[in-house]
Amino acid sequence: MTAQFSLDPVRDNYAVMGNPVAHSKSPLIHHSFAAQTGQDILYQAILVAEHGFTEALHRFQQQGGKGLNITLPFKGAAWRAMDVKTPRAQQARAVNTIWFSAAGKRHGDTTDGPGLVADLANNDVTIRDKRVLVLGAGGAVRSILSSLCAGQPERLVISNRTIERAQQLAARFCEFTSLEIRSLDGLQGEVFDLVINGTSASLSGNLPPLPDAILGAHACCYDLAYGDTDTVFVSWAKQQGAELALDGLGMLVEQAAESFFIWRGVRPDTKPVLEMLKKTLGNRK
Ligand code: ATR
Repeated sequence: MTAQFSLDPVRDNYAVMGNPVAHSKSPLIHHSFAAQTGQDILYQAILVAEHGFTEALHRFQQQGGKGLNITLPFKGAAWRAMDVKTPRAQQARAVNTIWFSAAGKRHGDTTDGPGLVADLANNDVTIRDKRVLVLGAGGAVRSILSSLCAGQPERLVISNRTIERAQQLAARFCEFTSLEIRSLDGLQGEVFDLVINGTSASLSGNLPPLPDAILGAHACCYDLAYGDTDTVFVSWAKQQGAELALDGLGMLVEQAAESFFIWRGVRPDTKPVLEMLKKTLGNRK
């Protein structure tokens, strides 16, 4: 099945490609940014079949599309399809933002890491000199790791159900010498200031098994996922007395703002857009 889309002949065209993609909030976010900054763009959500990404990308570019966001499961395929990658995209082996040069070269970046760091900063959470634990070693973690390293934490520990996967990931980020690997049951007795859940466990209502008393005083817990209500991880963090328990909605808006800046050269105000999204999601505390 080829992806169904047609581009606007007048406006600059952008889109998010994924599967599934109908739930994506990116069109709403980018149209809000565009309205706020006086830009006339069309941003659509394009459903791409499992093996259809390369063809859909080619057609979007041929038809004059200006830029793309890429979501699951195509971030790796997008990385492979780029002519030029930013260092952080190269390290993550994932691309979520694409643009095209005048000569037709495909440029790719990943804005997830900067999005996370920006959302943490919005909540007055810094990484420098903090003890940071990252749960998971899949695609979501790959995309944020170089930004976390750049934040110069005191410790950066990666813990994953499958320890080999964490080891493979860490091997690629080895210039950050104090990157540590732990199994989930090897976390007993450890204390952290910032715990980031990058596992897909919360999407299925599960929580990686974590010991009690893992949170230091004033700890922040951050779930890269988000939902209409608290994720299981956010609920756990509140029960454990975390000073801050955040989900990934703010990161979603911030990574979009990074993409928008790459494409349009203008930085939108993310605050009103996040507030608007929170209202559309309803049941959030
Ligand atoms: P994503 O792109 O969302 O990161 P992924 O690459 O499939 O998806 O990675 C999912 C991550 O969540 C992995 O770290 C996975 O652990 P494994 O490497 O051991 O598979 C983790 N994960 C998923 N379900 C989990 C669960 N119930 N408990 C703990 N970790 C889980």
